[in-house]
Amino acid sequence: MEFKRVNHLRGEVTVPGDKSISHRAVMFGSIAKGTTKIDNFLMGADCLSTIDCFRLMGVDITVNEGNNVIVNGSGLHGLKEPDKVLYAGNSGTTTRLISGILSGQKFSTTLDGDESIRRRPMKRIMTPLCQMGADITSIKGNDCAPLKINPSALHGITYNSPVASAQVKSSILLAGLYADSVTSVIEPELSRNHTELMLKGFGADITSEGKTATVKPATELNAQHITVPGDISSAVYFVVAGLITPDSEITIKNVGLNPTRDGIIEVVKAMGGSITIDNMRESGGEPVGDITVKTSDLKATTIGGSVIPRLIDELPTMALLACFAEGDTVIKDAAELKVKESDRISVMVDNLTAMGANVEATEDGMIIHGPCPLKGAVIDTKKDHRIAMTFAIAGLNADGVTTLIDGDCVNISYPEFYKDLEKLKK
Ligand code: S3P
Repeated sequence: MEFKRVNHLRGEVTVPGDKSISHRAVMFGSIAKGTTKIDNFLMGADCLSTIDCFRLMGVDITVNEGNNVIVNGSGLHGLKEPDKVLYAGNSGTTTRLISGILSGQKFSTTLDGDESIRRRPMKRIMTPLCQMGADITSIKGNDCAPLKINPSALHGITYNSPVASAQVKSSILLAGLYADSVTSVIEPELSRNHTELMLKGFGADITSEGKTATVKPATELNAQHITVPGDISSAVYFVVAGLITPDSEITIKNVGLNPTRDGIIEVVKAMGGSITIDNMRESGGEPVGDITVKTSDLKATTIGGSVIPRLIDELPTMALLACFAEGDTVIKDAAELKVKESDRISVMVDNLTAMGANVEATEDGMIIHGPCPLKGAVIDTKKDHRIAMTFAIAGLNADGVTTLIDGDCVNISYPEFYKDLEKLKK
């Protein structure tokens, strides 16, 4: 896959449905009573892995044309023992969230995923789930998948999470539905709150106060109609493309702007970028709006502290943006980047360096000494979808040719990405 410099990017794009919300809609719909209808579902490989896992446990799920999914829920206690290993593919969200649900079932399951999933830390969910009484073990004894989960009686806990992670928080809260008493999770910084919002919609007794989420044991969840907002984590590629490409103006329609996810807006403004939000409204209990960006003169900033969980998946793309800003941009408090689909600190630093950028890795982030004119290079995406999309945008703003290895990994979260990007070149 090859990319060359473009003169401009102009037009409108509608990004696909939010990945986090799509996963949750299928999961909660599967353990609810009744028929959950999901519109604007993300048909990316990760969310299809979630569908596969619940189908293997007997849930009747229909995928229709037009990104519509119908889940005929089995109820909280109606899942069936799968006759195969549950395969989560590349999806950390599937692996970690489903572990909370599986811990509350009356049958044993084995949960596995691809090479990347088999390297990602699972102790962060195994520790709290075991505290709740779950019987969950890493089959190879390395605290990674494959995981074996046996039936057990769950008790409510109050868990002080060492990481701001919505996957950890959600795993515990989902197990909490099956526990015999109240469960609370306290986070060091507030992570995305889609589980709290959506579980409430499904009728769970769940509350949030500051950085604490609390759920009571449930007897039943009720099916919902969910319209998934567009994914800000997919919008970010066009946000950055519009800001750094000359003579550009891009509108990204229908983007989810939940305050636990909208850190890029704040950072782009701090860097002096031209970004506006119009048509703010609500969709499926989440705020959405249209984002417009224009070519801008950018200045460096520091990205750290409580904003980090609000843009964790967008940080690779923010690092690219910083290459076009005047001064030293510091990304800190972001050691979590090392345990994503790839080690996103080293993969970003290696690939940006290959393109001629002046960038250094730190313990918990990176420093980008901008501005750095980029030249084409061969980019090893490490099969990480967010790395591939970031460097496709870099390639449009670099001299020479930029070649992506394994660029088709965008299928994980945005199968139509290259097509949508192409339309903006006209
Ligand atoms: C997600 C939470 C985040 C994020 C991931 C999706 C979720 O992971 O990086 O892409 O849907 O809960 P962590 O919980 O590991 O921070």
